[in-house]
Amino acid sequence: MGVTAPAPRPAVQVVAHRGSSEDVPEHTLAAYRKAIDDGADALECDVRLTADGRLVCVHDRRVNRTSNGRGLVSTLELADLAALDFGSWKAGGIHAEDPEAPDWDRTSVLTLDRLLQLVVDAGRPVQLAVETKHPTRYAGLVERRLVELLDRFGLARPVGDTPSPVRVMSFSQLSLRRMRQLAPRLPAVFLMERVPLRFRDGALPKDVRIAGPSIEIVRAHPRFVARLHRAGHRVHVWTVDRPEDVELCMTLGVDAIITNRPGAVLRQISG
Ligand code: G3P
Ligand code: CA
Repeated sequence: MGVTAPAPRPAVQVVAHRGSSEDVPEHTLAAYRKAIDDGADALECDVRLTADGRLVCVHDRRVNRTSNGRGLVSTLELADLAALDFGSWKAGGIHAEDPEAPDWDRTSVLTLDRLLQLVVDAGRPVQLAVETKHPTRYAGLVERRLVELLDRFGLARPVGDTPSPVRVMSFSQLSLRRMRQLAPRLPAVFLMERVPLRFRDGALPKDVRIAGPSIEIVRAHPRFVARLHRAGHRVHVWTVDRPEDVELCMTLGVDAIITNRPGAVLRQISG
């Protein structure tokens, strides 16, 4: 009896948005470990600078939503953040006394260093898409710290034709410009939640080759994807969780699907 080869995976990349964050608290080590186990091609994370200049993976300006603490990330030091619990909120509170508590309860803040180490140790190629948040506040400090850290892992300066395992994403053209000056070979993704008039024909900011439109843009203007492709750009769409949106992205031939549920998306597109 012949062995049936598994169906080849479509070329689209599946990116775990904040980790496998539908099931596990976002931006925790557990969420990224699950994303790797789920088979994600890449991990997405947001980075913010602490008061003592460390890059941590936190989406909001404040820690209130995703931890048991309060305050702005930018006014807290890493030690303050490390004392908080970034896991228990997901299941509605701390389960310290509960023997069935999920193993991500009492999870500390995730530093970008730790996430990079996870990527390096993944045992298979896993890419990382790092989003700089509100970077104009610090006069370039976020970008400088990011490049310093990537340099420590040998990831800021890809050589030859080997695809870079790291790319930088931002809604801020200023941040992408700074990144190009500091690490010109690192791919940049220009995120959009609306399409600025001058980019409607598929053009992107100088030296940016990847567009990151929201799924809302793609639903409203599906032909925008073809315009971007015709202009020679790749298209990474966020945040694509509904099966019908996954279908739309596949039909339009987008290059990456950024999703909170990478396992489910992979099953859908491989099925
Ligand atoms: O992947 C891009 C997407 O993450 C941008 O929106 O708010 O989820 O960071 P947000
Ligand atoms: Ca993000």
